[in-house]
Amino acid sequence: MIVCQCNLLSTAEIEAAVERLLAEDPWRLIVPSTVYHAMGRRGRCCGCFPDVVALIAEVTARMQPSRAAAGGRAPAADRAGLTAPRPLPKSGVDTRSRRARQV
Ligand code: FES
Repeated sequence: MIVCQCNLLSTAEIEAAVERLLAEDPWRLIVPSTVYHAMGRRGRCCGCFPDVVALIAEVTARMQPSRAAAGGRAPAADRAGLTAPRPLPKSGVDTRSRRARQV
């Protein structure tokens, strides 16, 4: 099925490009422009981008088991210790941004 009318890209072509990108780096953040760049294309009207995002999510979820088998590398944020809760400063005042406190 044609997903991108402007570039005449099919579901299979987009899925294959996402799979190649994930094979290069399983924890890579992939957005539609990443996929199009890898295919030597670029978004024109970008009306297909919501469908491309859905395909990226679908392929990424499908490849999750193979990620674990590939060595189970932790996401960069985990490796950097960014996901662990930070302790409050000794003053007791939370100096993190409002957005960080909500997370
Ligand atoms: S439909 Fe894909 S860029 Fe226009």
